[in-house]
Amino acid sequence: MTNKVATLNLGDQQVDLPVVSGTVGPDVIDIRKLYAQTDCFTFDPGFTSTASCESQLTYIDGDEGVLLHRGYSIEELSEESSFMEVSYLLLNGELPSKQELDDFSYTISRHTMLHEQLATFYRGFRRDAHPMAIMCGVVGALSAFYHDSTDIADPVQRKIASHRLIAKMPTIAAMAYKYSVGQPFIYPDNKLSYTGNFLRMTFGVPAEEYEVIPAVEQALDRIFILHADHEQNASTSTVRLAGSSGANPFACIAAGIACLWGPAHGGANEAALNMLREIGTPDKIPHYIERAKDKNDPFRLMGFGHRVYKNYDPRATVMQKTVREVLTALKVNDPIFEVAMQLEEMALNDPYFIEKKLFPNVDFYSGIILSAIGFPTTMFTVLFALARTVGWVAQWNEMISDPGQKIGRPRQLYTGPTARPYVPVSKR
Ligand code: CMC
Repeated sequence: MTNKVATLNLGDQQVDLPVVSGTVGPDVIDIRKLYAQTDCFTFDPGFTSTASCESQLTYIDGDEGVLLHRGYSIEELSEESSFMEVSYLLLNGELPSKQELDDFSYTISRHTMLHEQLATFYRGFRRDAHPMAIMCGVVGALSAFYHDSTDIADPVQRKIASHRLIAKMPTIAAMAYKYSVGQPFIYPDNKLSYTGNFLRMTFGVPAEEYEVIPAVEQALDRIFILHADHEQNASTSTVRLAGSSGANPFACIAAGIACLWGPAHGGANEAALNMLREIGTPDKIPHYIERAKDKNDPFRLMGFGHRVYKNYDPRATVMQKTVREVLTALKVNDPIFEVAMQLEEMALNDPYFIEKKLFPNVDFYSGIILSAIGFPTTMFTVLFALARTVGWVAQWNEMISDPGQKIGRPRQLYTGPTARPYVPVSKR
């Protein structure tokens, strides 16, 4: 709370609203009592000016291009840290000691296996099912396996559920891929790192020894760090809203996966690479830029623009650097990278994109890396979901442990018909 007060004049009525400050970032006007005092709601479709909760996890300054997890910059974390360490940080608030990190990694590795019964769920899907459809279904189904053992009021049980989700996502994701290509599921090998294990479960086959390439493992681990959490984005808000009713956490994460799938959110990485492949060669870029600017054409530059970042998405900077490293390490010469860089340059010099503050976001370059590693485009959003699970469970835990937590229940501006008498069908 600050000493500041926002005064709202509503006809003859004057209402003082408290102004609350966070540790950094814009103040918020506390409108919780507004309806009781004035009989008015606020109207903010898409939450463009609304803080939906209090949180200590992630801070974004969209004007300065800053992203901090628990106070640590994404640049430093992606350079110096590991996905397991960032997961610990997000869940617990502090960086772990060496022993704490070893214990955490060990605990996660003990939960990587799936109940064998769950494997049968995959067979209910068509082979050509989108892996995100499989993820929604299988992660949702986990709730059936742990519903009776998950008391969300108990922090220990919440922790176990969180560890299970983080640990099982790579197994579930790899199995979704294996199912689509008709190869046998590969069981986890807990000698490997979290990311190495995922690579082996995805690309290994029983007939051959799979060797994890360190450069690939490191790049993918970094991609996971870049996607771990991102404040109150659409899927995180979905998880919080679902969880606010006291729902089973596995079901809440399935809700988050469903939301993430959309092309305006996590589905943009798949859409961005498809777009770059469609453009194909640098000479076609101007045509696509013109299309993106045309109000009568629904086409948008995928991997461009962000609700919060109005300067540059700091994750895109790290991602662009990682593309170079991976392509060099794998000796891949993907002409799409050249198309992407020229497209970025052209867009950043175009008055439309300058004026609207549209810059590459995290999804613009990630697809090039994932494609070089060998993932089909349909798996891109699955990898995003895998990494974001950490953020989702951390945010869900934070919400449930908040004593002031209430069920999420927005109101509306009703513009439909007023009350009218029912007319029997014979008289219509
Ligand atoms: N290409 C062309 N024009 C665009 C684009 C784009 N990618 N993004 C926004 N605009 C225009 C838009 O047409 C609008 O113009 P006007 O003011 O004339 O109506 C203006 O910029 C503002 O756009 P908006 O849709 O009102 O902004 P928003 O904050 O609601 O949407 C967004 C943000 C990310 C959904 C949007 O920029 C977009 O659709 N981008 C492409 C999809 C994408 O890359 N999504 C990944 C986001 S980052 C990863 C994640 O968090 O999931």
